[in-house]
Amino acid sequence: MPLVSQSMNQTQMLLELEPIVEANLNRHLTMAKEWFPHEYVPWSDGRNFDGPLNGDPWSVEDSQMSDVARSSLIVNLLTEDNLPSYHHEIASLFGRDAAWGDWVHRWTAEEGRHGIAIRDYLLTTRAVDPVQLEQLRMDHMSTGYSAQHGDDMIRSLAYVSFQELATRVSHRNTGKITGDKIADQLLSRVAADENLHMVFYRNLLGAALELDPNQTMRAIADVVTTFQMPGTDIAGFQRKAVEMAIAGVYDIRQHRDDVVAPVLRFWEVFELEGLDAEGEEARTELADFMAELEKQALRFEDKRDALKARMLARESK
Ligand SMILES: [Fe+2]
Ligand SMILES: [Fe+2]
Repeated sequence: MPLVSQSMNQTQMLLELEPIVEANLNRHLTMAKEWFPHEYVPWSDGRNFDGPLNGDPWSVEDSQMSDVARSSLIVNLLTEDNLPSYHHEIASLFGRDAAWGDWVHRWTAEEGRHGIAIRDYLLTTRAVDPVQLEQLRMDHMSTGYSAQHGDDMIRSLAYVSFQELATRVSHRNTGKITGDKIADQLLSRVAADENLHMVFYRNLLGAALELDPNQTMRAIADVVTTFQMPGTDIAGFQRKAVEMAIAGVYDIRQHRDDVVAPVLRFWEVFELEGLDAEGEEARTELADFMAELEKQALRFEDKRDALKARMLARESK
């Protein structure tokens, strides 16, 4: 590894990371298992809808799925649906040449499968209102998505390391609360892809941390302290996010313990030696924020427990 006394600029960093991208792309290609969305969809459960085919209009009784499972599936699918915007953002940032470009295209192809699979499942099983789903998709995609950290490569790499893992957790737990074996299987499969994406970005950011520890530590601190899930601009997202948190799909405890903490641990941010004053300052901010997240997680758990107790008491009356 070249030793640098000053902060590297973005172009230097892109060039330095190129061989790491190539090695990790090759690693990814050997780890990723080919899979087919159509195998996860119970096609024979489906039937025509109203409209040109004169089938049956959708009705809420068509599926037994709980409201929160439906909401989670919709949020997760809409998040996947915005892929053209994500592609645009990472293609502009990483470029479309050499290993960076190969990764951008491969990643996009894999992400494309997620939206296809989840939509086919939802429409075939009539789990959600197809008209509302399409209107939400139009609305969400028409708004587009801009990366939270603009064209800042290190912050973006840190962001996607956490975001891919967050998506993994969200898909995995959504599968569990559907109470449907087929949905659970499908979302586990999608979650496995997200995990490999996380590993790719996590390894790259780990290399950036070696190349320029101080600048990278600052980036990690900025990203962790301002993290927002993609999809926050989905209509009605806040209410859905609260429902999902209460149902254990994605809550602040999971965010802290299952998403942020393991990635920070992998990078060994709290063991790293030789930081300068600015790097140390960033690390302190990060440590303070993790302590604050712990408090918030405890408060959330208390509130959720109280809410569940109230609901149980109401049911037993
Ligand atoms: Fe995805
Ligand atoms: Fe992903």
